[in-house]
Amino acid sequence: MLRTHTCGELRVQDVGKKVILAGWIDRIRDLGGVKFIMLRDRYGLTQVVLSFENQIDLRRESVVQVEGTVRERPKETVNRELATGEIEVLAEKITVFSSPLKDLPFYPGESKLPSEDVRLKYRYIDLRRKEAMDRIIMRHKVTQAVRTYLSSQGFVEVETPFLTKSTPEGARDFLVPSRLKPGTFYALPQSPQLFKQLLMISGLDRYFQIVRCFRDEDLRADRQPEFTQIDIEMSFNTREDVLHATENMLKYVFKQVLEVELPEKLDYLTYDYCMNTYGSDKPDRRIGMEFKDLSHCFKDSQYQLISNALAQKDVIKGFKVEDFSEKMTRKLVDELDEIAKSLGLGGILWFAFHDNSLRGSALKHLEKNYREVIENLQMKQKDVCIIAVGKSNNVNSVLGEIRKILGERFFSHLKTGFDVFWVIDFPMFEYSEEENRFVAQHHPFTMPNLEDFEKYKDTDLSKIRAQSYDIVINGFEVGSGSVRIHNAELQKEVFKLMQLSEEEIKIKFGFLLEAFQYGAPPHGGIALGLDRLVAIICDVSSIRDVIAFPKTSSGVCPLTGAPDIVTERQLKELKIKLGGD
Ligand code: AMO
Repeated sequence: MLRTHTCGELRVQDVGKKVILAGWIDRIRDLGGVKFIMLRDRYGLTQVVLSFENQIDLRRESVVQVEGTVRERPKETVNRELATGEIEVLAEKITVFSSPLKDLPFYPGESKLPSEDVRLKYRYIDLRRKEAMDRIIMRHKVTQAVRTYLSSQGFVEVETPFLTKSTPEGARDFLVPSRLKPGTFYALPQSPQLFKQLLMISGLDRYFQIVRCFRDEDLRADRQPEFTQIDIEMSFNTREDVLHATENMLKYVFKQVLEVELPEKLDYLTYDYCMNTYGSDKPDRRIGMEFKDLSHCFKDSQYQLISNALAQKDVIKGFKVEDFSEKMTRKLVDELDEIAKSLGLGGILWFAFHDNSLRGSALKHLEKNYREVIENLQMKQKDVCIIAVGKSNNVNSVLGEIRKILGERFFSHLKTGFDVFWVIDFPMFEYSEEENRFVAQHHPFTMPNLEDFEKYKDTDLSKIRAQSYDIVINGFEVGSGSVRIHNAELQKEVFKLMQLSEEEIKIKFGFLLEAFQYGAPPHGGIALGLDRLVAIICDVSSIRDVIAFPKTSSGVCPLTGAPDIVTERQLKELKIKLGGD
């Protein structure tokens, strides 16, 4: 080795030892005859003292090797913030491995960072920052814990193909042209869904894979075009078995990497309950603000908006925002009204309660009713109530959006700890306006609730619940899964309800339906987004921070310049002609 110790290792017990360190020069202080160098590697920082004359040109971010002796720092120069802060290395020899040929676009040791684009272009410099590197190391710890736990429970890790056929997870596919069969394309997998089901048909019984998935979709802070799933599938299990296996894995991971004990029992909330109470199927419950039905507080109102709504059996719902009257400015009210309008309502009703008097909308007509609301919601001085009136779905989405925005802007101080729970009983189908047909809300291999299926398959698909589930942590959908259909007939029926033709079914899923005919066990599983899980564990808002080389929100890798054009020759080999515009 070119070193005897790392830069995070030496302590007072090592005083007197001859050591060799190697690393990057984080900072240099030149005090005339003596130079103080902070030497940095992945493990930490060590102060090196250079008191001999040398002609070597030392710069920040030069990579050097230092040979010297460990000595105790004088009491007044001890740095308590540094693990190695009680010692320093008195250098006897210094060798430069390489020196920057020009100024770096930014220096990892500085607190002021450039834009994310610049950091991603020079991600190898960005990762020299301890914070950034620690997240990548945390990711490794999480994957190690997942592997250890699942292996201990009899799950077998199996790799599945990347060059494959399209699987419908709701996004566009990334396509790879085949040179050997011109005119045909592989699709990069949106998930290993079908392969893991086939492995159950093989009798593997318990499968997992920490696997890259590819989806061409609009990107956001929690979405990348390539991301990683902890993908799990089990045979001969009930829904609860998958939920427990997942819960136990998460408990193990949180304990291993953070020393955090998750609650013994996680809550199971139904999809309907979440939508009605939070206006979201992935609420962050740490900020409170649950919606309540307030219709009864308004039943005798003559105010037209209300009386019309009650006559049409619309809903009147609202939630209180504690200690918020001073923040409820005209500007904010206008903004919330705009949100309501963009989501199909005329606006919101609101009032603030302060020194026993009220301030708010339509006060002249509704004060008496608002006072009932105060009683009903047990509002205190300075609380605000936000109310929406209209069709249930619109009201839920308006209140849900407002709750989310208020949470982000004003209540982030409540977002501490981990709120982990299950959402169950999702609808099996949702209507796609774009495609003018029902599509699977999770994916079409999900087992429907069989009672609902028999009752509503011919009348109202939107009423059929699925045997699917999501695990939500701190307002993010971290994982999603389902009990699967394991019978060809039912699978075909579901495809047909989604208006897939016989021909389409045969082309897309013929191999699965055939496999079902040769003996398929009942099975089910889940996939957790590893990037999202690690981002939550590291308490960062973007999954880009926990991916070594992420893409920007426009799908570009600023470091390599991908995606890029290719040569004419490559296109010719693939028999691809590029279109005009
Ligand atoms: P689903 O499509 O819900 O289910 O994906 C499972 C989990 O993967 C994560 N995820 C993403 N993370 C980052 N960027 C993305 N673009 C992205 N898309 C999804 C989320 C999500 O909860 N085959 C099924 C699972 C199953 O049924 O077993 C599936 O892929 O955390």
